[in-house]
This record gives sequence, structure tokens and C-alpha cells, in this order.
Amino acid sequence: MICKENNLLHNNLGIKENNLTFAGYDTVALAKKYGTPLMLLDENKIRNTMRTYKSAMQTYFGNDSVPLYASKALSFVGIYQIAKEEGINTDIVSIGELYTAIKAGFPLERAFFHGNCKTDYDIEYAIDNGIGFFNVDTYDELYAINKIAGSKGIKQKILLRLTPGIDPHTHAAISTGKVDSKFGTAIETGQAMEITKVAISLENIDLRGFHCHIGSQIFEIEPFCDAADIMIKFIDDVRAETGYEAEYLNLGGGFGVRYVESDPVIDYTDNIRRIAEHINSYCEENDLHKPKILMEPGRSMVADSGMTIYTVGSVKEITGYKNYVAIDGGMSDNPRYALYGSQYTVLCANKMNDEASYECTIAGRLCESGDLIQENVKIPKVQRGDNIAVLVTGAYNYAMASNYNRVPRPLVLLLGNEERVAIRRETPEDVSKLDNIL
Ligand code: LLP
Repeated sequence: MICKENNLLHNNLGIKENNLTFAGYDTVALAKKYGTPLMLLDENKIRNTMRTYKSAMQTYFGNDSVPLYASKALSFVGIYQIAKEEGINTDIVSIGELYTAIKAGFPLERAFFHGNCKTDYDIEYAIDNGIGFFNVDTYDELYAINKIAGSKGIKQKILLRLTPGIDPHTHAAISTGKVDSKFGTAIETGQAMEITKVAISLENIDLRGFHCHIGSQIFEIEPFCDAADIMIKFIDDVRAETGYEAEYLNLGGGFGVRYVESDPVIDYTDNIRRIAEHINSYCEENDLHKPKILMEPGRSMVADSGMTIYTVGSVKEITGYKNYVAIDGGMSDNPRYALYGSQYTVLCANKMNDEASYECTIAGRLCESGDLIQENVKIPKVQRGDNIAVLVTGAYNYAMASNYNRVPRPLVLLLGNEERVAIRRETPEDVSKLDNIL
């Protein structure tokens, strides 16, 4: 929803005197108190989004339906605690995410372990800690899980990840449902049916259904409906050929998020309603059994609940060319412009009422020309010490942060009824803590 009073991008933004507010807090005061770069998270908005997904899925898909938070979007102990409190499940993709969920006391029987190259160590660690499901990509993984589960005397629940052959219109690097993909097994080539038969036959595997994820930052619902049709038809083909009835269909994540004004405003409840109506009529018309539907949103659960505040370090005006405003972070905390040319809304947090007529490129502090946050934006004229706000950075920013140039990563502050440090600021000592002195 657009903030009507001040025309800002989302309704958790506002202006107090000349400063940007976020979740009701003065961002300039927070920058002073905690230092920059500073990532802010709106706890109430995260909780509301989780509740919205949960209630929409239960209303429209049925009571057995539940969202999994795709924690690759933003993983830290507190977010698994919030997900646990809100009664939603989670998807994890690495031993690090798994460990973080364990540390948070997240009930692992509600966690799904994804990823296209799990090691034996990952599999054993997850089974030992009581993982609910593996989302299985390949034969190699299927056999490895069967063997390790057998050695522990258990039958492991899995979903098989399939590629339905859908091409959503999004950035190629985040499109994953096509036949030519490093993820999953293709339906079109007949290989999905083959791996399904093998999974059914394995002694220590409990196949509970199928999964697909077609991509990320998708605004239309048609690709999700198309994927659902293909998957439900496949489930029926499997039933006809083998008698096996899948319990779950996981449709993955992928809903788009509003980063800039030209992006549409998205109503996730309405998206879910429309997809559910489509699935219901597809199943009715074709007399097909409707499985329990799961979805695993990442970006849309946290992106607009986050923003980053930086401090301007220098302003460089190249006569006849352009202006660079350099900030005290960059691709080390937000690599998305460098990787995908992603669009962001940039504001000067301490000059919110000034005219935004100074055209400039926001550059990071890393030693690389491509280290840009956004090119050709219009903000008020700024100088060293001013605060730059980059909006909608809750997903795939901190999660993709690095220590390139040994730049310490930002502090993450959770803003709810009180301010809580969710991840403390990295120090130079932290950055060098794994090094041995030779
Ligand atoms: N499920 C699976 C299996 C996934 O691979 C992903 C995202 C999700 C769910 C969550 O999708 P979402 O709701 O967040 O779109 N780093 C990229 C995005 C990579 C997405 C990876 N997989 C970016 O910054 O745009």
C-alpha cells in the first residue's frame, strides 16, 4: 500500500520534521545512536506479513496449508524465533541456516531442507537433528538420503523437486522453473516420472509429494497457475501409473515486491485467492485430486520490512559527466545492483522535505567500479555526513553480504515495541577471526 499522507513507497515510512521515519522510529536518530551502515527491520510488519500469508493460505487452500518462510532471504536467530511464534514453517538451504534455526529453538520437524547439492555431512546433521523434510533434487541425493536414513533406522520424509518447464518473466539469474535448470528434475523429459518411481521403491524414503519453484520477483500470477496445472496433472499421471497419491504440492516462492514507485502494489492475499480458485476449478474440471498446497515466500515476507541507512563519505562531481555520492557501505552489504541491476528507491533521510533535484550515482566504498547501489537517482544536494536511506532491503541484502575488502557487515536492528539488536555490528577483529598467524 502506498503511504497516502506523504506518498512514500510503503506504509511503514513517514516524515518527522525533516527526517525519514521507519516503523515509527526516526532513522537519523537511530543512525547516530547505532552508527552506519545500519539495517533496520520492522518487526510488526514482518509478523503481519507472516500472519497474512498464514491466514490467506488456510482460508483459500484449506487448513492443512501452511507457508514456509524461505529463510535464504534473511537468516538470523531472531527471524526463526519470530517464524516459530507466528506458527509458520521454514525452508533452509544450508548447514548454516539449519544451525541458526536450531539455535533459535525452531522445531525442526517444521523445517524443509532444500538445495541442489547437499553433502553427506549435511544430510546426516539434518537427520540427527530431526529435520522434517528434505526437498530432493537428484538421484545422487535420493540414494544418499536413503542410505543415511537406513543407517539410522528411520524412514525419511521427502518432497521431490521438479521443473515444470515454466519461464516466468524475471531476471535470468533468478528464474528456476525451466527444463534447463540446475535445480530439480524435468517433467517434460520423462525423468520426473522415473525418479518418482525410484523414490517410491526405496526402503528408507517416505515420498510425501512434489515441489517446484519457478523463480523470484514475479508480478503476474499466471506463471504460478500454469506451474500448478502442470504439477497437478503430473501428480495424476503418477497416480495412474503407480497408484501413488501425493499428499503435498509445494509451489515454491517468488511473489514480487515493490522496490520503486513504478512497481505494482501487490496484495498477497488476493494473489493466493486467485491461485487457489484457479487450482480448485482446474481440479474440478479435470476431476483431479487436490493435494495440500504449500508455498515458501522469502522476499515478500521480509523485503519491505527492511531498509538500510548509510552515511555519505564524499561527493565527487566530474565536470561534464556525472556526480558520485559515496556511502560507507556498498556491494558488501547490498550486491544486488552489481549482480542484477536491481532497482531501489534512494532518499536522503535527513533532508526529506528538500527538493530532490540533484542527479547522482550512489557508489559504495569497495575497490571496484561496479560497486554501485543505484545509478542516476535524484535526491537533494548532499554532503559528507548526510544520511542516505535505501528502501526495501530486507531480503537478499544482509543474506548476501560479504566481507569483500574485509569490510565489516552492518548492525541489524529490529524495531518493534522496543529496539532490539538482532545482529551486532561486525568488528575488524570479527573479520579476521578465522585467520591463523603463520
Ligand atoms: N523456494 C526456493 C526453492 C527458492 O529457491 C527460493 C528463492 C524461494 C523459495 C524464495 O523465493 P522468493 O519468495 O524470495 O522469491 N538473490 C536473488 C534471489 C534468489 C532467489 C533464490 N531462491 C535476488 O536477490 O533477487
